[in-house]
Amino acid sequence: MRLRGRKGIRESLERQPDLVVLDGKSLKGRWAEYFGNTNPIHVEFGMGKGRFISEQSVRNPDINYIGVDMYDELLRRAADKARLAHGGLSENESIPNLALALCNLEYVLDMFETGELERIYLNFSDPWPKKRHARRRLTHHEFLRKYMLILNDRGEIHFKTDSMSLFEFSLNSFADMGLRMRNITLNLHADGLRDDLVPTEYELKFVDRGMPIYRCEVLVGKLALEEHVERLMEPQ
Ligand SMILES: C[S@@+](CC[C@H](N)C(=O)[O-])C[C@H]1O[C@@H](n2cnc3c(N)ncnc32)[C@H](O)[C@@H]1O
Repeated sequence: MRLRGRKGIRESLERQPDLVVLDGKSLKGRWAEYFGNTNPIHVEFGMGKGRFISEQSVRNPDINYIGVDMYDELLRRAADKARLAHGGLSENESIPNLALALCNLEYVLDMFETGELERIYLNFSDPWPKKRHARRRLTHHEFLRKYMLILNDRGEIHFKTDSMSLFEFSLNSFADMGLRMRNITLNLHADGLRDDLVPTEYELKFVDRGMPIYRCEVLVGKLALEEHVERLMEPQ
């Protein structure tokens, strides 16, 4: 994603400490305290301009959301979008169930404690098509190893992409880590845009061009897997 340099972006982020977290490391193990409750925490890693995480936080007030990206400008845009989505809040008003955090996910273990998260969304992660860049893909097994530490017993990863090669790589990566998948689809919106799932900025662009969206859910936590199997056993 190409970004224009802009003066004053950092100052703008610093003016919004109730929404924007510039030093996520200081909250490691303390996110529940930050939100002031013990509701489940769902994160989007690589949130971009923030449409998805904003809309999720509006739809589900009993879930705490954290959107993470590594660029100041994207955080600023996401903050603007979030305030609009929550009815046009001003810069000094907080959103009780949303935080936007600056972090390069290489250092994700510095920001979250073991078992602190319930769900990780990976939406349209950069595909990094060259083999020598495979380690940068957010579904590389080195990233998965970290996600498996910070997710709790109910932990899941929800992954969607327009890239067939990234999807193929990722399914292998999940399987290599011994993870079970469900709801795998090679064309999420085959019957029209799904209104039960919030689309991202990238997704809307790709759907507009008629491209298929690949998606799957990955069961990481022990309870998430047990409950899934129990549901399968229920009489139809
Ligand atoms: C292709 S964009 C997708 C944005 C958004 N999820 C969407 O679907 O519209 C990928 C995003 O991941 C972010 N990203 C990629 N690698 C990252 C990393 N190591 N740490 C933090 N963010 C990262 C990029 O900055 C970019 O905003």
